[in-house]
Amino acid sequence: MTYTKEYFIRFVEIFSKYLAENKEYLTQLDAAIGDGDHGINMDRGAKAALERLKSTNPSSPGEVLRTVGMAMLSSVGGAAGPLYGTAFIKMGMSFGKKPEITDEELIRGLRQALDGIKNLGKAEVGEKTMVDVWEPVVKFLEECAKEGKTLSDVCAEVIALAEERMKATIPMQAKKGRASYLGERSIGHQDPGATSSYFFFKSLCEAIGGR
Ligand SMILES: Nc1ncnc2c1ncn2[C@@H]1O[C@H](COP(=O)(O)OP(=O)(O)OP(=O)(O)O)[C@@H](O)[C@H]1O
Ligand SMILES: [Mg+2]
Repeated sequence: MTYTKEYFIRFVEIFSKYLAENKEYLTQLDAAIGDGDHGINMDRGAKAALERLKSTNPSSPGEVLRTVGMAMLSSVGGAAGPLYGTAFIKMGMSFGKKPEITDEELIRGLRQALDGIKNLGKAEVGEKTMVDVWEPVVKFLEECAKEGKTLSDVCAEVIALAEERMKATIPMQAKKGRASYLGERSIGHQDPGATSSYFFFKSLCEAIGGR
């Protein structure tokens, strides 16, 4: 099974739909422990990405993701813009110009994206950020790849794991970003970036159905 540029466009469309539907929700989460802009930022970024995909018509999966990353970098702002922008660009770069991506390559791309997020933001698991969803999901997928399983085989588990890790940020104290300024008062709230990351992985899985 391989993933074409149409798959990645569909993924970005689904991600964008979730971000639009959950703009208020993400904004409320960020209002509790940040500055209340995460939903607005991400929705604006995803819409800019879709527009840029339409106007540039990229020719490969890698180019689709690099285009999305550049659009997010220049339009999302805040912490999430560079973090998501880097994630999409690193993943796109790892695909080169290949017209079709295998499951192994997809998972390697997600690892590159996670490494990019961690290099830039310096966050580790347990610090109440998007890394709390990304790292366990990527590690799980790497284990699955070793056993010869595809993303399609484990989609239900991926979505459940991402949701569980998103919720696991509630009792955490934030150590990175604006939320960390709250100290112990950041405890008891779900992290907005972990929440948008849950939508990221849910979208990646749901795009398979439309491939
Ligand atoms: N250093 C970091 N590493 C990884 N993720 C981070 C980091 N800092 C913030 N985040 C993620 O970004 C989310 C906030 O994104 P937002 O779009 O609201 O940007 P922001 O308002 O500039 O954020 P912040 O003020 O937290 O830096 C957080 O919920 C968290 O998941
Ligand atoms: Mg914010």
